[in-house]
Amino acid sequence: MMKLLTIVGARPQFIKAASVSRAIEQYNQSLYQLTIHEVLVHTGQHYDQNMSDVFFSEMQISQPNYHLGIGGSSHGAMTGRMLEKIEEVILQEKPDVVLVYGDTNSTLAGALAAVKLHIPVAHVEAGLRSFNMKMPEEVNRVLTDQISKWLFCPTETAVKNLQNEGIVERTQALITNVGDVMYDAVLFYRKIAKPTDKISSLIDELSGNFYLATVHRAENTDDPVRFSNIMDALNTISETTPVVLPLHPRTRKLLGSDYSSKVRRMDPVGYFDMITLLSHCQGVFTDSGGLQKEAFFFRKPCVTLREETEWVELVTSGLNILVGSHQDAILNSEKKVKKLASFTQDTDFQYLYGDGTAADKIIKVLLGSA
Ligand code: UD1
Ligand code: UDP
Repeated sequence: MMKLLTIVGARPQFIKAASVSRAIEQYNQSLYQLTIHEVLVHTGQHYDQNMSDVFFSEMQISQPNYHLGIGGSSHGAMTGRMLEKIEEVILQEKPDVVLVYGDTNSTLAGALAAVKLHIPVAHVEAGLRSFNMKMPEEVNRVLTDQISKWLFCPTETAVKNLQNEGIVERTQALITNVGDVMYDAVLFYRKIAKPTDKISSLIDELSGNFYLATVHRAENTDDPVRFSNIMDALNTISETTPVVLPLHPRTRKLLGSDYSSKVRRMDPVGYFDMITLLSHCQGVFTDSGGLQKEAFFFRKPCVTLREETEWVELVTSGLNILVGSHQDAILNSEKKVKKLASFTQDTDFQYLYGDGTAADKIIKVLLGSA
């Protein structure tokens, strides 16, 4: 038996872990002799019902074995407290492998706690780079890659980034392009996703004539000029085409209750509501990493409200328009979105993110080198 300690904490990590945990359960039901015992640790980085619990219940993720309850503080405080608590869990559980996802503070804390106790680390979504070290996520992912034994890349670009850094020569890590676990999730859950009544009614009301938007990145929310430019542009767009904006708590706090706009704001929605909104919208405006790819999975044009993206293949393929935060650029991009809205199944781009079996591949690689 291989004991795998999985660390999650933030919304996108629940979605990524759902695919791998389900693949582990299926693997354990098969006739192979070596089974995997997964122990799930939730750091508590995201803690509101609609930022955490909703994903566990909808996506049928097992309840965490450990909930550390650490969230809502500064980077150093949060990461430090996670490091201390995860170390205690590792000492108690003595796992064979620690599995971390993405680029959040929970990712770095999990990887660092493990490597210091000589437990090998598997990093899912390795090799992504924005080449902007001012982003907290870039710091987290660069450092996590340095201390991981298994580097599971979602794209060829990610593999090349790691090769360019000479990481294998330095650390003897094993790089594998497995594809994107978020693609696995979309393929599985889109067949069973039932939206809430609220989202069903909204979709009926808007008859598919709306854009879906999210804004939460520190680089946008922490800069008042960038933030107001983005919000003003979304407001202008919504004068002609409704904009549906599920608000991350970070953004909601910033807007306050007296902010007035035509944008259809709402609390964060669950994954089922989100993929339903995605499947009906005309296009996406976002600074989210995950949502850029999901827009592509649903063949929707995406305007990325950032200066750079880790998902460069979407930009070079013309499906993702990288605009930053200038109002004019955002407003001009809407014209391109309207043109692109008619593009459908373009087979040339089908396998940018693998074939929907990333989670299986991760398990096989881990067991193969166990
Ligand atoms: C984090 C990740 C980011 C990821 C995002 C996904 C880091 C450095 N950043 O950013 O990479 O894209 O999650 O959503 O790890 N809050 C609540 N309720 C919650 C969660 C957060 O009120 O359930 C508020 C708290 O005031 C908190 C703030 O939002 O201080 C920011 O949360 P935090 O987890 O620090 O960063 P995110 O912006 O969510
Ligand atoms: N998401 C969601 N509800 C929302 C907003 C986003 O379920 O209200 C999902 C989204 O579909 C994607 C993931 O959360 O699967 C992306 O997470 P987020 O944007 O918070 O983080 P990032 O991907 O930028 O790290």
